[in-house]
Amino acid sequence: MNAPIRVAVTGAAGQICYSLLFRIAAGEMFGPDQPVILQLLEIPVEKAMKALEGVAMELDDCAFPLLDSMVLTDDPNVGFKDANWCCLVGSKPRGPGMERADLLKDNGKIFIGQGKAIDENAADNARVAVVGNPANTNCMIGASHCKRITAERWSAMVRLDQNRAQTQLAQKAGVGTAAVEDIYIFGNHSPTMFPAFGLAKINGQPATSVINDDAYLQGEFCSTVGKRGAAIIAARGLSSAASAGNALIDHVRDLSTPGKIHSVAVKSEGHYGFHPDVWAGLPVKTTAPGEYEVIEGLEMDDFAKSKIAATNDELVSERETVAEMLG
Ligand code: NAI
Repeated sequence: MNAPIRVAVTGAAGQICYSLLFRIAAGEMFGPDQPVILQLLEIPVEKAMKALEGVAMELDDCAFPLLDSMVLTDDPNVGFKDANWCCLVGSKPRGPGMERADLLKDNGKIFIGQGKAIDENAADNARVAVVGNPANTNCMIGASHCKRITAERWSAMVRLDQNRAQTQLAQKAGVGTAAVEDIYIFGNHSPTMFPAFGLAKINGQPATSVINDDAYLQGEFCSTVGKRGAAIIAARGLSSAASAGNALIDHVRDLSTPGKIHSVAVKSEGHYGFHPDVWAGLPVKTTAPGEYEVIEGLEMDDFAKSKIAATNDELVSERETVAEMLG
């Protein structure tokens, strides 16, 4: 059995964490030989901390063999202390009538503080995964205030979009999800993101020829994937939670597993025409635990290029909105 690793998770009393934490403790994120110390961070509000205590009691009641211990805190300096992975799930939800610019700025403040706390406290080998929305821009802000844990170690989650796209293609083709490969998400975690169906394969054949319906792929498919979050809210009355937690398990596990090719929002460095300083969903190949290279040179037709340009425009405008918050 390995020595335990420290996994810091923010928003630990929230919806996503109510499924996520149990799966981390069960070994689904880091494997069956890797004990974890969960460092659970919430806001300094009695109701939130009380709810967090309840979650921790339930984790205790599972008697997970891999759960070494837990730290419950409202202090980011404690929560991120020596953390090997920092999963930034908590953020402020969009209130009624709230403008997107205000959402960006309110959350920006959280991620300035967390970026600095990670800089000062996390382990030297720390990796960061941002889930809290607007995830790509929150990640950019956090990374800009964290010089020791460098920008390429900061990622934002677009894996839920990839998983959604995979299932939509499988259902359209009448096959199981395992038959669908090479579906990657480009750009923002928002309705502008582009699920690049032109690269996807179904049972080894191009998805475009198996489905053979460009109008569906360019229209309904892209909009179903892009608006799936809103559809879940309309149906459930609450935003996606178990599927988001599942996607974070996939995101971190695949970033820890050499050879995996998957969609991650990373600092673009200009790949596929994205602004070099935005965090854009891109296909990456994990080269060593926590390290990756962007898959370059994938062919994009004019439709794909126009979708990538549109999601890049949104990321650039988010960057401009929070420009004064960047470190
Ligand atoms: P939730 O509202 O149920 O829980 C969020 C928790 O974060 C709350 O308990 C809150 O007290 C806590 N929190 C807020 N600020 C914090 C801070 N500064 N430090 C520590 N904790 C803090 O929300 P839920 O459903 O768990 O979602 C969390 C976030 O994930 C939301 O921003 C949501 O939009 C986002 N999300 C992202 C997805 C993605 O694919 N990237 C998918 C689904 C949700």
